[in-house]
Amino acid sequence: MKKIVVVNAGPRKGWNTDTLLHETERGAKDNGYEVIWFDLYRLEKYTGCISCFGCKREKFKGHCICKDGLTPVLDAIREADGLVIGSPNYLSNFTAAFRALYERLIFQNLTYVREAPNCNEHMIPTLLIMTSNAPDTMYTDLVESYRFNFERFIGPTSTFISGNTLQLKDYSKTDWPWTYFDAKAKKTRHEEIFPKEREAVYNLSKGLFK
Ligand SMILES: Cc1cc2nc3c(=O)[nH]c(=O)nc-3n(C[C@H](O)[C@H](O)[C@H](O)COP(=O)(O)O)c2cc1C
Repeated sequence: MKKIVVVNAGPRKGWNTDTLLHETERGAKDNGYEVIWFDLYRLEKYTGCISCFGCKREKFKGHCICKDGLTPVLDAIREADGLVIGSPNYLSNFTAAFRALYERLIFQNLTYVREAPNCNEHMIPTLLIMTSNAPDTMYTDLVESYRFNFERFIGPTSTFISGNTLQLKDYSKTDWPWTYFDAKAKKTRHEEIFPKEREAVYNLSKGLFK
């Protein structure tokens, strides 16, 4: 059976990123795929790349040799037929958990050999999702810069950004004045636009993982 790996690089279960990722899971499953799911915030301890250059030795080519909580994720991606990674935007970037995986995933395939910079012989379709408080157009360039490296080292990559997300169920039920936001507009968007985004990523997944 064909497999895809879905990686949640956000900490909140049941919220925006997690919800969209579950739609991609549903899309792939409806096409007969097995889905292997990882929550980066629920793994054993791990770090980003530690610059050991183990992956730059002939016998470990394409393999991060650092053994920790990310190892099962990297191994599963290496065997998979497709990949989905979703992350909230934290301080104008993907999350730290995403970055740790990103460093390890990309760097193991980057050879530093001018003639053949990528040693990944198993390129797979990939979907990269970001959710953010800011409107979806705010982070197009950021996501595009990540897409560039995914395309080079992992496989043909599609992206989806869900902006203006709802961060709290009820902005009035807090003792902190979240005055940055128009709570009513956020709620309306969540009720009217977010379901359409759920459907969009479901369809994206179904189209990518056939
Ligand atoms: C630590 C932190 C930093 C954030 N920084 C940004 C930011 O720079 N830009 C932005 O648009 N949203 C930012 N957000 C909001 C989240 O990206 C947004 O609410 C996202 O949809 C949350 O995803 P979730 O509901 O899956 O947790 C931040 C949230 C947190 C917790």
